[in-house]
Amino acid sequence: MALESTEQTQEELILGFLSESGEDYTSGEALSGKLGLSRTAVWKRVEALRTKGYRIEAVPARGYRLVEVPDRLTALEVAPLLETHDLGRTVHHHAVLGSTNEVAFRLAQDGAEHGEVVVAEQQTSGKGRRGRAWVSPPGLNLYFSAILRPELPPQRAPELTLVAAVALAETLRECGVDAAIKWPNDVHIDGRKVAGILTELSAEPERVHFVIVGVGVNLNCQDEHFPEELRGVATSLSLARGEKVHRARFAASLWTRLEEWLDLYLETGFDAVRARWKELSSTLGQDVLVRTDRSELRGLAEDIDPSGALLVRTEGGQLERVLAGDVEQLRPRQSPRPRQTPRRAAPSE
Ligand code: BTN
Repeated sequence: MALESTEQTQEELILGFLSESGEDYTSGEALSGKLGLSRTAVWKRVEALRTKGYRIEAVPARGYRLVEVPDRLTALEVAPLLETHDLGRTVHHHAVLGSTNEVAFRLAQDGAEHGEVVVAEQQTSGKGRRGRAWVSPPGLNLYFSAILRPELPPQRAPELTLVAAVALAETLRECGVDAAIKWPNDVHIDGRKVAGILTELSAEPERVHFVIVGVGVNLNCQDEHFPEELRGVATSLSLARGEKVHRARFAASLWTRLEEWLDLYLETGFDAVRARWKELSSTLGQDVLVRTDRSELRGLAEDIDPSGALLVRTEGGQLERVLAGDVEQLRPRQSPRPRQTPRRAAPSE
């Protein structure tokens, strides 16, 4: 096991160096110097990578060049692109499982550390909010659950969902689409849902044990991958952009951004997240119909309060506080949302 993980780290490092070099060749000598390995050991790791689907060109007297990376979401693909200290540094990758949230919950109960992530190529019983299913076809999208161990009282844990929504909307905007957050935490492009978040909590009265932040992002699925009832309601990043998305690059960008926002939130509190959430929201300033388990409410979505509850001004002038429900935006009003300037290369091909 220890040997395997050393070899995996060496392979991740080789991929990192080759990715950095882009179209240029990296000599075997340079790689062996950077890794502290013999040239033969480097060659063996390159061979191992080839058997895992990487196309690595080797030219005598020039060195190695990475030509093609398999479209997968293992640590080998994501780690070389990550800029995090904890999040995604350990990836539990599954070709197929029921729900990443459930697997992450069990791992966390067994002591998994802050930042460990469960990723699946396919989920057979992906869970959405309010008991719904999350459609999770194989090899096309991103389904992951992050195990977080923040020092927070349990009543503040829902704020983490807003942290994730902000990171998600920003990462999607970085790809050139006009993503917006629809309350509570769905992310939409042109009024169609592209991503959702399901946060689950294990806590005692005073202290959070862990939080599972589960995120599903439709990246490369097409209309035919959605069941009939979701066509016209759901979309994918690739449908919105008209080109294929590099899933590992997207995952690395999202996790990097998620950790940046998480760090800021844990250091300075909820205010900055709330302010950014409001900028990215498509719900505020709109007339809405909110359906909760027990009732319906119509009015103007005026604000979110410091805990993330939606504040709706009813026709009678009352300000109602909604903690959970589904929002229908009744009629588009002019959105005050500013576009964001990308901060780093877009995670797309
Ligand atoms: C929603 O209803 O909007 C929330 C959807 C959350 C789906 C993701 S996919 C990865 C993780 N595992 C699950 O079973 N659900 C979440």
